[in-house]
Amino acid sequence: MTTATSQAEVEQPASFAFTADNLKRAKEIMARYPDGRQQSAVMPLLDLAQRQYGNWLPRAAMDHVAELLEMPRIRVYEVASFYTMYNKTPVAKHFVQICRTTPCWLCGSDEITRAIKDATGAGVGETSGDFTVVEVECLGACVNAPMVQVNDDYYEDLDYDRTVALMEALKKGEQPSIGSQTGRRGSEAASGPTTMLKARPRPKSDGGTKKNKG
Ligand code: FES
Repeated sequence: MTTATSQAEVEQPASFAFTADNLKRAKEIMARYPDGRQQSAVMPLLDLAQRQYGNWLPRAAMDHVAELLEMPRIRVYEVASFYTMYNKTPVAKHFVQICRTTPCWLCGSDEITRAIKDATGAGVGETSGDFTVVEVECLGACVNAPMVQVNDDYYEDLDYDRTVALMEALKKGEQPSIGSQTGRRGSEAASGPTTMLKARPRPKSDGGTKKNKG
């Protein structure tokens, strides 16, 4: 188990360049903005660079983005350091973000944190094996709290056992189903539907059972 590495301690690559495919994609993104406003593409280009470099952003990647967008390096560093979705130090294969803001905390995020530590060996701010664990603020899925994000995927309606099962599945290389881990659809009531329990008959003028052509 290792604790978070500071940026100063990270071994930085000497250079970075987009692959041919990613360069094409970067140019498509830049073309979305009016002439002279290509610097507005800095965030999606940093995201593209991070995905290319194993989910973290070395300084050379930020410099490459600055060069492409013809903007001062310091302004790219400012963007990358302001937004927490950019990892300035290496992370493991499974980057686990535990939401610990009030709704998730009230619904048991302390138990989720404990389950992740028990299953992976990594506590908050630590890396163990294939898991890096951090805590984050609200991820916008409060209605299905408590939840975690692993790489790009949300896993919701967690408790201790479901979280351990999720981590164990990831360890085995499985791809667990995303979203609610209790099987509820979207954000319907946890106790099941409470309204519109029976489909209302369609009015005769609507053509009965004909399919809607609209
Ligand atoms: S508080 Fe956890 S998703 Fe909003």
